Amino acid sequence: MAETRRPIVIGNWKMNGLVDSAVELEATIAANGQGAPCEVMICPPATLLFPFSQLIQGSALRLGAQDCHMAENGAHTGDLSAAMLSEAGATAVIVGHSERRADHGESDAVVRAKAEAAHGAGLTAIICVGETGAQRDAGGAETVVGTQLEGSLPSVLRAENTIVAYEPVWAIGTGRTPTIADIEAMHGFIRRRIEALQGDVAHGIRLLYGGSVKPGNAAEILAVANVDGALVGGASLKAADFSGIFGIYT
Ligand code: PGA
Repeated sequence: MAETRRPIVIGNWKMNGLVDSAVELEATIAANGQGAPCEVMICPPATLLFPFSQLIQGSALRLGAQDCHMAENGAHTGDLSAAMLSEAGATAVIVGHSERRADHGESDAVVRAKAEAAHGAGLTAIICVGETGAQRDAGGAETVVGTQLEGSLPSVLRAENTIVAYEPVWAIGTGRTPTIADIEAMHGFIRRRIEALQGDVAHGIRLLYGGSVKPGNAAEILAVANVDGALVGGASLKAADFSGIFGIYT
């Protein structure tokens, strides 16, 4: 069933980028990304969603947000609901990124509630999981990721509204990546685990690798079985580097 999974490369800008960066990236994608056999998405800071949405009208570039609140509305100063992000132009939202799990103490239950809120607003939830270096060194990577999947995935989901990103914490922003064999083993494990939890829908869900993906290592990583794309941080900030990654699929 792998042929039904259209690859997707997602850029996570984190807390970087002003309007000028959006203009530059849009121009590069317009030049290189149209008609690409993969989807290309940018998750800019929320302040850029609306200007970006104006800029990309008619282009194939898609927009996602980096986080949402689990509630539909209410007294949550500084937070944004999934419906607000949708109105600003997002069609997806990242939930459970390790930086949110670490910096904001987000548990699996919170991540699941956010993913459900995303679905409720019609957004695709990009659910992140991944072990720390210490957990991998202790031989516990699969146990950690399996537990995160069990706790973070909504009990009802569809392949069209759910993407899972495997991002080993120790590979994020470090220039280090797991071996190709380790990526293949973990992605196979994740697919089987989702199947055990959710059944056949697992075969349609796209699994992304994230953590120090660059133009120089993307071809090798994106060719791995059960890797249906990438979640890219640092290298998505430079339009040339980002297009050098999604361009692998062209
Ligand atoms: P990186 O970040 O590509 O800079 O390692 C990936 C991520 O955090 O999504």
